[in-house]
Amino acid sequence: MKKDTRLVHSGRGGEWQLVNPPVSRASTILQGRLADYEASWTRDRFDGLSYGLHGTHTAFALEEALTSLEPGCHRAILLPSGLAAISVALLACVKAGDHVLVADCAYGPTRKFCDQYLKRFGVSTSYFDPGSDIRPLLQPATRAVFCEAPGSLTFEMQDIPALADAAHAHGARLIMDNTWATPWFFDALGHGVDIAIQAGTKYIAGHSDVMLGCIATREPLWRPVRDVAADYGYSVSPDDCYLALRGLRSLGVRLRAHQEGALRVAQWLQGRPEVARVLFPALPSDPGHAIWKRDFTGACGLFGLELQPAARPVLAAFVDSLKLFGIGASWGGYESLIVPAKYTRVVAGTAAKFSGPLLRLHIGLEDPEDLIADLEQGFAALAAAGATA
Ligand SMILES: Cc1ncc(COP(=O)(O)O)c(C=O)c1O
Repeated sequence: MKKDTRLVHSGRGGEWQLVNPPVSRASTILQGRLADYEASWTRDRFDGLSYGLHGTHTAFALEEALTSLEPGCHRAILLPSGLAAISVALLACVKAGDHVLVADCAYGPTRKFCDQYLKRFGVSTSYFDPGSDIRPLLQPATRAVFCEAPGSLTFEMQDIPALADAAHAHGARLIMDNTWATPWFFDALGHGVDIAIQAGTKYIAGHSDVMLGCIATREPLWRPVRDVAADYGYSVSPDDCYLALRGLRSLGVRLRAHQEGALRVAQWLQGRPEVARVLFPALPSDPGHAIWKRDFTGACGLFGLELQPAARPVLAAFVDSLKLFGIGASWGGYESLIVPAKYTRVVAGTAAKFSGPLLRLHIGLEDPEDLIADLEQGFAALAAAGATA
């Protein structure tokens, strides 16, 4: 079956006779007889209902639907946020004395988790330029390579199959934050990734009302990762699973519309004199375009925008004048957003150099012509503020 069909039909095999699964709330699972209770001691805790912590019918339905999206995925693992999925994936791969190599463009809190918390457990972290050959940077103790393509805020592509080859030749795992493309537009496991992470908060749920993380792995890694998630006490509420499952059904339809709108707006922005650069691998002018085209099957609605140098009040006049773009960070919902991009780098020279303000735009499901009209009046406000500055 094709992906759209799988999305509609998977995770609906229950006996509940409804189109959608019920929201099953539970902590305690009752056993019929003493012998059943004793038998539960030897059963796999992840097999069917065992304890609310490990999920109920609603979570199992979402797991099944997510699993059907990622060829090779043994059984999707649910976490209460994208960041929880990131920390669990890393914790499953390392022990004291190990080293992790992380893309210098990774999501800020990923870096904080490595620099502060893994460090406390005796795991060191170093960073790689997202465009570089990592082989010389692998240390004897490197057990995991962490990538995110395109990079958070700065949108650098990475050559995932090359990273996988290098990591595997060294005996390390490749972990990828695949939130931008989602499994819809990038088959991470099929390109050599060992643990693929989704901040389900974004496009999976898709309506800016759920916190969720998801992990996809092949069978041998599923158990160690699932155990870490359970042993750290992570659980996702059935309400959030229900909402995520409802959002997930329209993932393909939404992503196609996000992509179409983002390309239209990004191309329009490229022709504007106020714009220095648009950071979007789907554009042929982007330095990551060739890799994106080779490996990905599409792009979402998130991209970067470098304006020509402008003073802070002039930038504020532009952003504040926008009527259809909310000022907000968590993307992937149906609405358009804009935020200034603030990032740090460790490896000298890895950051693309920006002389003007850097913004991150999320193109929602509005009509792109309305978004363009809004940006156009925003540029008029920017010009007016510049003239009086
Ligand atoms: C690329 C990326 N990964 C992970 C996350 C974390 O997801 P969550 O907010 O669900 O913890 C975010 C959130 O902004 C993100 O942009």
